[in-house]
Amino acid sequence: MDEEKLLEEAKGVLKLNDRGGYTVPATDLYPHQWLWDSCFIAIGLRHLDIERAQAELTSLLRGQWSNGMLPNIIFSEGEQYRRDRELWRSYLSPYSPDKVATSGLTQPPMLAEAVVAIGEKMKTPERRSWYKKMYPALIRHHEWLYGERDPHKEGLIILLHPYESGLDNSPPWISELRKHSMLWWVAAIEKLRLDGVVNLVRRDTRHIPPGQRTSNIEALAYWAALRRLRRKAYNSEAILNHALFAVEDLAFNCILIRANTLLKNIAETTGRTLPDELLTAMARTETALEQLWDETNGVYYSRSFISHKLIEEPSIAALLPLYAGTISKEKAARLVQLLDSRKWFKANWPVPSVPFNSSYFDPLKYWQGPTWVNTNWLIIKGLENYGYKDEADALRQKTLELVAKNGMSEYFSPINGQPEGAPNFSWTAALTIDLLKTS
Ligand code: GLC
Repeated sequence: MDEEKLLEEAKGVLKLNDRGGYTVPATDLYPHQWLWDSCFIAIGLRHLDIERAQAELTSLLRGQWSNGMLPNIIFSEGEQYRRDRELWRSYLSPYSPDKVATSGLTQPPMLAEAVVAIGEKMKTPERRSWYKKMYPALIRHHEWLYGERDPHKEGLIILLHPYESGLDNSPPWISELRKHSMLWWVAAIEKLRLDGVVNLVRRDTRHIPPGQRTSNIEALAYWAALRRLRRKAYNSEAILNHALFAVEDLAFNCILIRANTLLKNIAETTGRTLPDELLTAMARTETALEQLWDETNGVYYSRSFISHKLIEEPSIAALLPLYAGTISKEKAARLVQLLDSRKWFKANWPVPSVPFNSSYFDPLKYWQGPTWVNTNWLIIKGLENYGYKDEADALRQKTLELVAKNGMSEYFSPINGQPEGAPNFSWTAALTIDLLKTS
């Protein structure tokens, strides 16, 4: 593998998608700023230009709501994007910022990881002032998560829409949506096979072959779910009072646990003390994660907040407790075995976003089978957390080979490495840079 060439290619993608102070995930398909995308992008950019990496994160704070929420999308300006902004209508909420249009939902809390990754490249005094700058926004975000999304103080954050998980159409979400939130008219459209009409209004299937995206029915159900949240002006309490579905999402809560640990480090470095209430909530999450463990199948699952039952549909999230870093060594060892099992995650081009033994598995379909570079990156970190250095190095090498062979695509077939989704995808490029520079 020609590492120099790969690095240049990755830099080229980030340049192509740079919009000044922020980077779009992909030129045509995703023309706005996304929350966890920008975090991954900053993790790559830190190796090229520290100030630009910092700007990637500070530009996310433009979108922070006054209640502390960090939205998953900050919309780009311009008439051509008016329809996207109008779909969300963030102005309906009194907490949304005046100057920028955003979505009304959040995404996995990767910000602390990105802040610390940048900090690692700085000398101590600069690191301290960088942390001080980002600290208030981080605290407010984590306080918002616990204040609004853990109303019963159970320790697990509740997500209200699949988009918040970042793994939009992964099996636990699709199965919940189908069980509890298939509105009569969405079901009727499916029955009458009218769903083809939806193609007329979808942006993604204009750019990407439909087999690689969510189905029209799923897209409609997402849109209907979004409209319900919009009608309640994105007020979590009002939404939860009449929620059709709400999920204690495994991946999100694992990422939160890691973010909490990092937030404690940030506070320590800057000589601050985290509020007691927040510390208590953080500790609760670590304990509560264990309620998601299913001994029979030997994996963690997401849980429905409404029925309080585990959603027994495995996905790539099953491996993220390694990234959280708080599970026992014994459980970690059981998860690592799944990476080596053909029934689960062992693939020519690992790691598939859904295990092979899932009825949902499809090597082409978005978060229902393809390999993604960001989840590989999280798993590599997780393996390192538990001392699985050889396994981490092997996955790093395989991921770099995959990208070197097939380009900087959004996702790839785990079977033959075929590139899928959007080409020139920013986090693929940024994390390729990070994997190259940290090996
Ligand atoms: C898709 C992905 C989500 C990502 C966004 C922008 O919606 O599912 O995780 O943030 O695209 O790249």
